[in-house]
Amino acid sequence: MAYEPTFRPATRADAGALAVLIDIAGNGLANQIWLEQAGPGHSALEVGRHSVRQETGVDSYRNATIAMVGDEVAACLIGGLPEALYDFSRIEEKAAFFRPVVRLAAQAAGTWYIDVIAGFAEYRGYGLGSKLLALAASKAEEFGAPGNSLVVGSWNTGATHLYERCGFEAAAREPAIFPSSYPQSGDWILMTRPLR
Ligand SMILES: CC(C)(COP(=O)(O)OP(=O)(O)OC[C@H]1O[C@@H](n2cnc3c(N)ncnc32)[C@H](O)[C@@H]1OP(=O)(O)O)[C@@H](O)C(=O)NCCC(=O)NCCS
Repeated sequence: MAYEPTFRPATRADAGALAVLIDIAGNGLANQIWLEQAGPGHSALEVGRHSVRQETGVDSYRNATIAMVGDEVAACLIGGLPEALYDFSRIEEKAAFFRPVVRLAAQAAGTWYIDVIAGFAEYRGYGLGSKLLALAASKAEEFGAPGNSLVVGSWNTGATHLYERCGFEAAAREPAIFPSSYPQSGDWILMTRPLR
């Protein structure tokens, strides 16, 4: 069975769901960054939701497309040109474990970069990810970009398999540096897909 989603631009009202999806795509890393920003006694997810509600910034709802199944938010795609999403002159201000990802994104300047692709667990494996990757190709065309790019963790073999099936190839990698409490280890891999 495959779901037939409808796609729409995100609005501020999607900020809560988007914060959770951003954290899912980052395998829990976004939550760690937000928790540090929140400080003791405050909610990491509230920081994430606040960040999505902004008009600018990589997590802004303005960079997001929502996949709806019926009346439920099922998945999302967030992206844009890397040089529009990130200020590469200020990489050092990012959380240490996020810097390798931004350095890899910098190598893909000019492509339409997939910053976040994620679906809620009950909607995975039903074709939504493949459809969102097709949407990313349309976005690249719309922006006059020659292709797509994304960064995936080497431990995320399921997602990597999907990307390879959809035409992405590894282009560069950097060791991932995580707090010792973090369950994953390996490399961040920049994958690219030419479209013409
Ligand atoms: C990666 C993801 C967006 C793919 O979306 P999807 O709707 O499950 O994708 P599709 O149904 O079109 O394709 C399924 C493919 O995704 C892969 N996949 C990854 N995680 C999966 C999961 N938990 N359940 C099912 N499939 C998964 C499968 O290997 C499958 O690949 P294949 O068809 O080539 O065998 C989705 O599984 C997800 O949200 N995963 C968690 C977040 C994440 O890791 N995001 C990527 C960060 S780089």
